[in-house]
Amino acid sequence: MIEICDNPIKNYLKLLSNAPILEIGSGTGSDTLCLGHLGKQVVCVEKEESVIGQLKSRIDKYALENGIKLNITLLNQTFPNITLPNSEYSCVVISNLLHFFEYETAAIHVEKAKSLVEPEGYIYIKAHSKNHPFNKQPGHYPHYKHFYDETELVSFFNSEFQIIDCSQIITSPSQLEKDIKSEWIKRYWEEFCREKNNTTLDQLKLLNPLDDPEISIELLVKRKGLIGNLEHSF
Ligand SMILES: C[S@@+](CC[C@H](N)C(=O)[O-])C[C@H]1O[C@@H](n2cnc3c(N)ncnc32)[C@H](O)[C@@H]1O
Repeated sequence: MIEICDNPIKNYLKLLSNAPILEIGSGTGSDTLCLGHLGKQVVCVEKEESVIGQLKSRIDKYALENGIKLNITLLNQTFPNITLPNSEYSCVVISNLLHFFEYETAAIHVEKAKSLVEPEGYIYIKAHSKNHPFNKQPGHYPHYKHFYDETELVSFFNSEFQIIDCSQIITSPSQLEKDIKSEWIKRYWEEFCREKNNTTLDQLKLLNPLDDPEISIELLVKRKGLIGNLEHSF
């Protein structure tokens, strides 16, 4: 579970200060466990209490199996209206979250994230690309409010931030991911049918993109140091 973590922030861990990492919308915590396993202190903000419960179980299981208590704080709060234990973070991770918001709302979230990263700290964003298969079926997945291209993600950041990397990534789903997605789509579609009252489950066959790859945009930026900022302000 920990080895498959592909968050590229892993490559920058040695450059991070000792300030904790903030993860927004941690879900059940693949990135969280990976970063904790690699020795980082992580503060997680997750709005769903049941999801926090699942993440807590995974952290407890890790402690039991490895005899190591990971340095992870779980906060059941809704970003951006949050109260945090620290005012600045070495890195803010926003993975698979922004596509659930309209672009303008996402911009507010990113502004808040920018205010929480320390000078020389990083922000990592991963969001569904405009090329994502879900974006080819407008109206079918109303949970997904906005799909991104590189320019849109980059435009959240001004010259106070240096773009380290921005790329489109294509990930083929594993069998486990296909099974989870299949179950999620089934439940989602049942709910959709109940609401619309005129759609049959057969349409699942048309919509089910189980074998399609996930197409995301990943952006890693670094906040410039205080000297860089001063230079810029003259
Ligand atoms: C798709 S999951 C992503 C999980 C993980 N970050 C990943 O990349 O696999 C998005 C998570 O964000 C949470 N979430 C959505 N809006 C949120 C908000 N405003 N504040 C905190 N958590 C939020 C959801 O409950 C969900 O668990």
